[in-house]
Amino acid sequence: MGELVQGDITEQRADVIVNTANSALLSGGGVNGAIHRRGGPAILAACRELRASRYVKGLPVGEAVATTAGNLPARWVIHTVGPVYSQTEDRSDLLVSCYLRSLMLAEDLGAKSLAFPAISTGLFGWPVADSARLVSRLLSSARVNLDVRLVLFSASDLRLYEEALRATDHRVTDAEIVRVLAAVPANRWRALFEAADRITSADLEGIGSEAVENMFRHLFRAPLVVRCDYSDAFREGRRPESLTVAEAVRLITYIWREDYWNGGGTGVLEGRIRDGSLPAALGTLRRWVERSQPGAAHEGPSQKSTL
Ligand code: APR
Repeated sequence: MGELVQGDITEQRADVIVNTANSALLSGGGVNGAIHRRGGPAILAACRELRASRYVKGLPVGEAVATTAGNLPARWVIHTVGPVYSQTEDRSDLLVSCYLRSLMLAEDLGAKSLAFPAISTGLFGWPVADSARLVSRLLSSARVNLDVRLVLFSASDLRLYEEALRATDHRVTDAEIVRVLAAVPANRWRALFEAADRITSADLEGIGSEAVENMFRHLFRAPLVVRCDYSDAFREGRRPESLTVAEAVRLITYIWREDYWNGGGTGVLEGRIRDGSLPAALGTLRRWVERSQPGAAHEGPSQKSTL
């Protein structure tokens, strides 16, 4: 779980500082204005380049992109565009996506620490208490390998975040799991399914196999090993092909915790491969990804997957 501080985001020493950008990637007020002012012209120059190349139409809401941090005490600025708050439409998925995409991008960059402002809670009008609830839930459910700092500008915002953190129980719902999955970019899915496709039956003899380890690394990065409970359904003879996508993630988490995390040898991984439930869980994920992100789960042309 993240660390909470009151302060100015531009003064944070972290590998990554997150900016509450606009789609045009131009300077603005609030966090965005402060970052460009303190960071100097190199950041805006990098943003202009992105607009001329990858984001001709602008950075979509809920996505994230990295640039230099210029003169800031950080290595990178990750720009993300939060949703404008709406009373009539639930845009929570987009707000959560800003946080998740930023975290995943920071991991890809090799960052070890990251500082977030309270995205969308300024000009974009998101109520701070609700953002605090969403962010607390997210950080207690998705597993990330980064030190995360949440930087609140005012003492009253900090209090709202502290309250939300205290109130968060750690029972992750199916809807929250799906929300995490929806923010996983295509390159991570592709890497995961390619890793699963490379596993042969010989690899399954023991879990020390490099191929199996590689697949688990990608499951972990997806991040499909979420901090969730697994439901009782898996302990009794549940038909593995009838798993929902959230159950598939719970099952993978269960295998990770019970066996892989403990260094193997418990037989859980082998048992779940033999009874068909791990292959079924991966199949469920593949179908879900194929439906929600066509092309991302593409299988290699000639590879016959064991899992
Ligand atoms: N450090 C930390 N937090 C700050 C800072 C700062 N220097 N300045 C403002 N904040 C806080 C605000 O109090 C608010 O709670 O950050 C939160 C986010 O506010 P905004 O920066 O206004 O971000 P957002 O609501 O996402 O609006 C983004 O505003 O500046 C424009 O170009 C930007 O169009 C974009 C929009």
